[in-house]
Amino acid sequence: MNHPLPDICDGILVDEAAIHTRVEELAEQITREYAGERLHLVTVLKGGLFFVADLCRKIDLPVSLDFMAVSQYTKGVGGVVRLTKDLSDDIGGASVLLVEDVVDTGLTVNYVHSLLRAHGPARLEVCTLLDKPARRIADVPIAYRGFTLPDRFLVGYGLDLSGRYRNLPYLATLRDEAVLG
Ligand code: IMP
Ligand code: MG
Repeated sequence: MNHPLPDICDGILVDEAAIHTRVEELAEQITREYAGERLHLVTVLKGGLFFVADLCRKIDLPVSLDFMAVSQYTKGVGGVVRLTKDLSDDIGGASVLLVEDVVDTGLTVNYVHSLLRAHGPARLEVCTLLDKPARRIADVPIAYRGFTLPDRFLVGYGLDLSGRYRNLPYLATLRDEAVLG
């Protein structure tokens, strides 16, 4: 199906082919580096859904999946992150890879990482499709990253603006008017 660029966007930053090539590379690296382990992928809804669905199908290991959800409230300078959906499976002793769509300020991944850590996994690393380091406040080591990008607001491949545009197969930048409006 054809997905023309929405009016609110001014360009495609990462196209569908580039995403799929990079996802395959990450999956190959993860397959090598988790060989012999039973990999448990934990993804933060909703943005990470598209990435993890493609990634896990390219990982040649026994994998299981679980999902969490968080919401963010911005109060003053820092953000506050709250858990809205907890894990379904016990991760004690497991090899857990936290799969994120984007790490921006790092507050979300930092919060989720510390929750997972508290459950005592044997191994815990972070895989993010996108790393936007410009606004980083909280630092969590990123073991696998798809693309390092400048500080632009993006939609597509899981990323939304007010709940929309997640289903675009590419990553598009928003026009300045759309970010403000
Ligand atoms: P952080 O807590 O600031 O690292 O932000 C992480 C969350 O902010 C992501 O999981 C997204 O939901 C959202 N986010 C950050 N950058 C973008 C973007 O460019 N487009 C859409 N959502 C974004
Ligand atoms: Mg979001």
